Amino acid sequence: MQNGSVSAKKLFIKTYGCQMNVYDSIKIESLLKHHGFIVTQEIHDADLVVLNTCHIREKAAEKVYAELGRIKLYKDKKRSSGGDVVIAVAGCVAQAEGAEIFSRAPFVDIVVGPQSYQNFPELLQRIKQQEKWVMNLDFTEESKFDNISAYQDNQGVVAYLAIQEGCDKFCHYCVVPYTRGAEYSRSVSEIYREVLNLVQNGAKEVQLLGQNVNAFHGDGPDGTVWGLGKLVKHIANIPNLERIRYTTSHPQDMVDEELFEAHRDIPQLMPFLHLPIQSGSNNILDKMNRKHTREFYLKIIDKFRSYRPDIAFSSDFIVGYPGETDEDFADTLRIVQEVEFSQCYSFKYSPRPGTPATLIENQVPEPIKSQRLLELQELIHDYQMRFNGRFLGKKLDVLFDKVGKKNGQIIGRSQYMQAIFADGILSNQIATVAINQIEPHSLGGDIIA
Ligand code: SAH
Ligand code: SF4
Ligand code: F3S
Repeated sequence: MQNGSVSAKKLFIKTYGCQMNVYDSIKIESLLKHHGFIVTQEIHDADLVVLNTCHIREKAAEKVYAELGRIKLYKDKKRSSGGDVVIAVAGCVAQAEGAEIFSRAPFVDIVVGPQSYQNFPELLQRIKQQEKWVMNLDFTEESKFDNISAYQDNQGVVAYLAIQEGCDKFCHYCVVPYTRGAEYSRSVSEIYREVLNLVQNGAKEVQLLGQNVNAFHGDGPDGTVWGLGKLVKHIANIPNLERIRYTTSHPQDMVDEELFEAHRDIPQLMPFLHLPIQSGSNNILDKMNRKHTREFYLKIIDKFRSYRPDIAFSSDFIVGYPGETDEDFADTLRIVQEVEFSQCYSFKYSPRPGTPATLIENQVPEPIKSQRLLELQELIHDYQMRFNGRFLGKKLDVLFDKVGKKNGQIIGRSQYMQAIFADGILSNQIATVAINQIEPHSLGGDIIA
């Protein structure tokens, strides 16, 4: 059965969590398209529903069960009219909970972990042969990339590409090392081919992804191991690739001199860096097993600024980590002031099953967590407004990639990752925008070139 044929089965896929999941979903789509599926945006048309899930915080994981409850009603309805729908749970909840998903939601047919997507066609085949509850949670990362990168896709003007996956850091609050497995880097030639293909399909910006993207150490074409800096310099040679970004980095791995140089020398490498610190307190960083101090972090920030003075920074923060005192929290507020982040994500600590932090006795009470989150978010907001405010009456380079809610409006990102809106039509070109409006989470302006 080929893509587009009348009898093609329809796939609906819903993605939760990080950009790695977004990328994986694109790959699942590409793979299944080659096995006779067409993609639908309408769940009520679907023959196969895939939930690509996230386990990072309790809320994220619980959302999946709420959604499964709704999908069950749809499955019942379809069955009562003689049809059926196959339900697959993929991603980090699948990896973390495995067969438990079948006991909580027995109408689920397939549970498949993030390193096993290449097996999707085989799992579907088994369901077709009337097998019940099929599951694959193997960690065979190499074969995942070997098998699914062969299916190239058109992602549009901004494209994602996983270059590294997994994590060996084992921060004491985090599930990722368990759900994504050990750090693994793809080879430079494989990555280069994939970027080339994305650019040939219209990508102007490529975002290199990894749970610890700056720990990248891929086999180079010259037989040596390459770091992220060298990789960036290499792919910057691809004609028509105008923007390169990478996410997410860990402070401890910011030791690649070539990466600092790339920020100075490679104009395609955007002057924005997401570098999560999580807490501003050395006491908490130590308890979190982050393996870096606030001083080390500040040193990296200074070093980046000496190579690329206009570079903007963002971070993730966790508030209310077990044992966090008022003084520890004050250190977190202080680091926001010291770095002057351009934007940040912040979360209340969420105890995750199987992680060491759940065993710490003095958990922070919920109301204190909420209060601290509020306070931190207000401060982050102030610095974000301050950063954005600097651009009033100035020009920014914007790659527009979406239409906005208002008629005639388009939305894109500046070099500093700010969301920018303007009136215009999507042209797949970087536009110069004169900024005349500052909102908390976006800036507005007029396209002048
Ligand atoms: N690999 C990246 C991102 C990991 S997940 C990194 O190391 O930074 C994204 C963010 O979720 C983390 O940066 C952290 O801020 C948050 N997070 C992870 N586990 C959490 C937990 N148990 N509770 C609250 N936030 C958490
Ligand atoms: Fe999680 Fe820490 Fe690994 Fe990031 S570095 S994925 S926070 S364990
Ligand atoms: Fe969530 Fe897994 Fe990403 S837990 S944040 S989807 S790596």
